[in-house]
Amino acid sequence: MDIDDVRDDLSQVLYSREQIDERIRQIAAEVDRDYEGKDLLLVGVLNGAIMVMSDLSRALRSHCEMEWMAISSYGAGTASSGVVRILKDLSVDLVGRHVLIVEDIVDTGLTLAYLVENLRARGPASVEIMTAFRKPEAIKNKITVKYVGFDIPNQFVVGYGLDYAGKYRNMTGLGILDPKVYLQE
Ligand code: PRP
Repeated sequence: MDIDDVRDDLSQVLYSREQIDERIRQIAAEVDRDYEGKDLLLVGVLNGAIMVMSDLSRALRSHCEMEWMAISSYGAGTASSGVVRILKDLSVDLVGRHVLIVEDIVDTGLTLAYLVENLRARGPASVEIMTAFRKPEAIKNKITVKYVGFDIPNQFVVGYGLDYAGKYRNMTGLGILDPKVYLQE
């Protein structure tokens, strides 16, 4: 689905498919350089990271393994609580591995803080984070994100893996959802 297919639902288009693609390629070149000679394990966080995982991994010039985790945050409403339940865990041992967590968005950062701590406890050689988008105004802790695609405003965004009520995940770019879409429900 292209941005133009749902343009009326968006109050603003933030990034086009081409802009995201170019930025992910730049990051892939950095990852290639930083992990040269190391066995890289990409850990994607379902469901939102499917697009960025697919694009980042294919833009790499070197080998990588891919694994997935599914997690769910406890707590009321849409706000992240930082208390996380693992719904699907990794199927590999992390001892000695170079792990790069791949996320669609860092919002409060609470999910990732939990995840990094959880993965570090498994004895990897390193754990770093790559995210397609980050909301600097929403971050509630000091997690270090090594690779950031774009810093974005603290608004409800959809597309490129990010959903509203399960929809818009398959939209190619990133846009701010017009409040009329969720206020009318
Ligand atoms: C999103 C995103 C991160 C998390 C970030 O997942 O993929 O995992 O929220 O929020 P935080 O920084 O405030 O902790 P979501 O729970 O929306 O699940 P989804 O990826 O399946 O849509």
